[in-house]
Amino acid sequence: MIVTPWRVSGKIDYDRLIKEFGTQPLTEDLLKRIERHAGELHLQLRRRLFFSHRGLDWILDMYEAGRRFVLYTGRGPSGPVHIGHLVPWIFTKYLQDAFDAKLYFQMTDDEKFLVNPDFTLDKTRRLAYDNALDVIAVGFDAKKTKIIMDVEDADIIYRIAIRVAKKITFSTIKAVFGLNESSNIGIIFFPAVQAVPCFIESELTGENVPCLIPAAIDQDPYWRVTRDVAPKLGYLKPAQIHCKFLPGLGKGGKMSASLPETCIFTTDSPEDVDRKVWNAFTGGRPTVKEQRMHGGDPTICPIYYYDYYLFEDDDRKIKEIYMRCRSGDLLCGEHKTMLSEKIKKFLKEHQKRREKAKDLLDEFLFKNR
Ligand code: TYM
Repeated sequence: MIVTPWRVSGKIDYDRLIKEFGTQPLTEDLLKRIERHAGELHLQLRRRLFFSHRGLDWILDMYEAGRRFVLYTGRGPSGPVHIGHLVPWIFTKYLQDAFDAKLYFQMTDDEKFLVNPDFTLDKTRRLAYDNALDVIAVGFDAKKTKIIMDVEDADIIYRIAIRVAKKITFSTIKAVFGLNESSNIGIIFFPAVQAVPCFIESELTGENVPCLIPAAIDQDPYWRVTRDVAPKLGYLKPAQIHCKFLPGLGKGGKMSASLPETCIFTTDSPEDVDRKVWNAFTGGRPTVKEQRMHGGDPTICPIYYYDYYLFEDDDRKIKEIYMRCRSGDLLCGEHKTMLSEKIKKFLKEHQKRREKAKDLLDEFLFKNR
């Protein structure tokens, strides 16, 4: 199992990640506290897609004592956005609504320029602006959301990043991120840049404001380093809430743009969706007869996972799907058709909002604040 910000492979054991990364599991008690403030628990919490945290209890303590906090999440614009990326963003919107929180969203066009040998700055800038449409389409509140474009907002980024960088040694970066002497020095510096939005609100307002970061667990190495540095600069340690990876449509592995046929992009057409879902791996048996006799295995099936984690909010219905699959009553073809319809409906709405986002972009940009 390898989980770094730039590489995720092998069978992921999330309990082991909690131990190895030194994070905390999300407890029933924490969920109840969130529910009390939010009114209801988001599907991604109920079904434990979000499973781990650092300092979430502290964020809630502060909030319950009357302190506000900001949210921070982001995207490395290396290609089109897929529905896996939307997972933490949809959840962040839930938190924004529930806690009336301001959000800083970072577009790391610099990171993607630095890690991809063939990428020009022009290309990463174009992708950053394109991906920002997906962010806006998720439905964030324009008044409370600022999208930071690293290269264009370099003035504020750099001023904070060099102070962060001064507190981090090369040996820490080598150990935490697996970089070495032949890595380019831009990417060695970059973790200081990804730390910056944790502190922007404090920097701009002069008030020390707590920050909560929803993201998948692959981004955790950044936060380990950032939490170490924060008190040395007089800032509060940022807290995190981590999600698992939405799998791809193939056998095992997270959804990743590098395998486009196992990946649902937000800009996919209905035909793309039908084709990709139809060709997906499932937990089904080789023949209808065997499926009817022995049932399928939803615990290894991406079709079931998509319903479970994203598309079937109704707990009663998801249980029914599980039972029908297990008993052999639900065949994979039928389930695929059901899921395709849900994904196409979701994408149709998302794509409409994405179009409208073109007119809203200016309002969301940090540089226009
Ligand atoms: P990036 O662009 O790789 O991923 C964007 C966000 O999507 C999450 N993610 C996934 N979540 C669920 N299932 C998947 N299959 C999946 N694949 C990716 C990532 O964890 C991330 O939350 N360096 C970052 C950009 C960044 C950032 C941040 C991300 C800058 N600041 C703060 C999170 C929080 C990156 O390249 O993300």
